[in-house]
Amino acid sequence: MWSKVRWISFDFTDALASDSSPLQDFCVADANSAVLVNGFVCKDPKMMAGNTSNAVGSRVIVATVAQLPGLNTLGISLARIDYAPWGINPPHTHPRASEILTVLEGCLEVLKKGGVYVFPIGLIHFQRNVGKEMAIAIAALSSQNPGFITIANAVFGLNPDILSDILAKAFQVDKNVIKFIQSKF
Ligand SMILES: *[C@@H]1O[C@H](CO)[C@@H](O)[C@H](O)[C@H]1NC(C)=O
Repeated sequence: MWSKVRWISFDFTDALASDSSPLQDFCVADANSAVLVNGFVCKDPKMMAGNTSNAVGSRVIVATVAQLPGLNTLGISLARIDYAPWGINPPHTHPRASEILTVLEGCLEVLKKGGVYVFPIGLIHFQRNVGKEMAIAIAALSSQNPGFITIANAVFGLNPDILSDILAKAFQVDKNVIKFIQSKF
């Protein structure tokens, strides 16, 4: 009887074996690293953020059906937006989705950390980081394929161009102004 209990006890102790607790909040595995450890090494957390060194000072990383095939037919997707200080997510629209945006870090034009904003389907919208630090937001969209139409690119960056005299009349400015803007896209 005694030896049976001891055996059960040993078996239980054995079943408790586990990986040690993580020493940091998260560790995204770098499967391509040449360094061998007991598990995968972590990617640099700084590299996990979107690279905002560009003309608008923001980076959008999306998880739509194109990146995450399991979303197909489910009517949902996500985007993470990183904003440099005073960076903008330029005016854009999602033709197939309403959006709910939550500020995770920092301060956007009308939203503080934890603030939530909703953009109805098709509405043109934008954000601007009004803080001195990086800002981060997460957007949930009501389509697995919401579409992302950036207004400036769609109007001034088409190939072939919309003729500059048409845009000059539409925007009530000189044709050269239009040509200058088109040269940026
Ligand atoms: C971010 O993008 C800029 C411009 O394309 C590039 O020079 C820089 O190396 C990138 N930084 C990182 C961390 O990838």
